[in-house]
Amino acid sequence: MIKIYAPASIGNVGVGFDILGAAIKPINGDLLGDCVTIKLSENFQLVNKGIFSNQLPIHNEQNIVWKCWSKFCKIIKKNISVSIVLEKNLPIGSGLGSSACSIVSTLVAINEIFNNPLNQKELLLLMGEVEGEISGSVHYDNVAPSYLGGLQLILEDYNIVSQKIPNFKTWFWIIAWPGIKLSTAEARKVLPKKYTQDICIKNSRYLASFIHASYTQQSDLAAKCMKEFIAEPYRIKLLPNFLENKEKIKKLGAISCGISGSGPTIFAVSDNIKIAKKISLWLTKNYLQNKTGFVHICYIDTKGVRKIG
Ligand code: HSE
Repeated sequence: MIKIYAPASIGNVGVGFDILGAAIKPINGDLLGDCVTIKLSENFQLVNKGIFSNQLPIHNEQNIVWKCWSKFCKIIKKNISVSIVLEKNLPIGSGLGSSACSIVSTLVAINEIFNNPLNQKELLLLMGEVEGEISGSVHYDNVAPSYLGGLQLILEDYNIVSQKIPNFKTWFWIIAWPGIKLSTAEARKVLPKKYTQDICIKNSRYLASFIHASYTQQSDLAAKCMKEFIAEPYRIKLLPNFLENKEKIKKLGAISCGISGSGPTIFAVSDNIKIAKKISLWLTKNYLQNKTGFVHICYIDTKGVRKIG
């Protein structure tokens, strides 16, 4: 029996729409991600557990786990039966890479139990393909960090899908999921099909500056460069009081604040634990819309997917 954990992630990271993603882990040691336990069996079996399993489709064929398994079997041209328990610990449509967590943990578990027929790149391409089918377009900014860990820059060309870039060890990432759902497909529908030259130049400038600041470890510069022109302006209306909340969070001392992936989770960054705790408390009181919502203070998870238990 093998148990695999895949961590939650922040897609876009406030400056790199579809091409930057960071895996995260709560500083209190909690696991924030999905787990998959797998063993060989007579027939394909799937059991859903975990606090958000009630959000999963009733029919197995619509479950991400089943999609991963059936695609994997087609690729390796063998139909091996497995019994899988999915612990769905992340809410669906949260902006924390929930589907990516299920895809990554499932495919790594299946690959492992089949004695690793797919290599890292083949597996990552397959993860992107499944994610694309679910969200409406292939993007690796959740699957890559959840799989490989750290802050990932998606290259998607030159035969390389993604590479890790330096992150800031002193940064705390405060994430707040308000307890409401927003599907990535819906959040992509509100985006324009074309952007002006001015926006394209600004976007390249901020992204390039952020990458430069990351490599030269200029924390203040990196935080100042986390500005988003491609998605954030159009998604503001989909989140509860985003602009007012962002202003307040900045006033509390955050060096950056933005939408995690396609939302509705928002993230804030601080390099001071006292400020991070203050922001966490404020978000708990003011951003959560119901009892299911949560706030975590996180580090970057440098490991990515791993065996546990
Ligand atoms: N980058 C995607 C988006 C979501 O913002 O639509 C995360 O994969």
